[in-house]
Amino acid sequence: MNPGLFLTFEGIDGSGKSTQARLLAASLRAEGHDVVLTREPGGSPGAEQIRTLVLEGETDRWSPESEILLFTAARRDHLERTIRPALATGKVVISDRYADSTRMYQGLSRGDLRTMVDTLHDLMIGIEPDLTFLIDMDPALGLPRALSRQTGEERFESFGAALQARMRAGFLALAQEFPARIVTVDGEGTPATVADRVLTRLRPKLPPPAHG
Ligand code: TYD
Repeated sequence: MNPGLFLTFEGIDGSGKSTQARLLAASLRAEGHDVVLTREPGGSPGAEQIRTLVLEGETDRWSPESEILLFTAARRDHLERTIRPALATGKVVISDRYADSTRMYQGLSRGDLRTMVDTLHDLMIGIEPDLTFLIDMDPALGLPRALSRQTGEERFESFGAALQARMRAGFLALAQEFPARIVTVDGEGTPATVADRVLTRLRPKLPPPAHG
């Protein structure tokens, strides 16, 4: 459908997916690919403003339903202004989180709202990545790492270890639901080791660089 390639990274907080998104962007650029590295919530000026609304403040600041709307509004803006234009010109788009995060964090964390998330996604977003890397990590290793960052964006991390464990199980189940799209990668080991695992899985789907 798109001339470009749309890749996303997903995983629990502290899984190392942001590092992996950066490393993959660097490797592909070194091979001559035109890469747009972006993130959610955010990735466009308007969506970055919504990011502040959803990631800062008290855990009960928003109801799950309001959150679904805010994350979807942010995603729609990100899609219109960053993702679609880049794909249309044949670029490789790498997003640190995308719709699977909403399926998990809003769809699963506080009651079963998955149908609501999926309905809104179909209505307002409608685009799935070509490939999603799920960086799988034991929350006992990931959560302390995420909390130690002190970025002021710990609203979801503040929900605690039990939530992270449910998110991990949820992501693994999601990978089984979409086996053709979601690739589960073991997140333990050095960043370079994990990056090798990612590249190995991507290689068969990677077109030749636009200008090598
Ligand atoms: P992120 O910046 O990826 O955090 P980290 O780098 O620490 O992994 O994501 C911030 C938080 O936003 C994360 O706790 C998950 C949450 N989130 C949702 O709840 N729903 C969403 O749709 C997205 C994209 C993120």
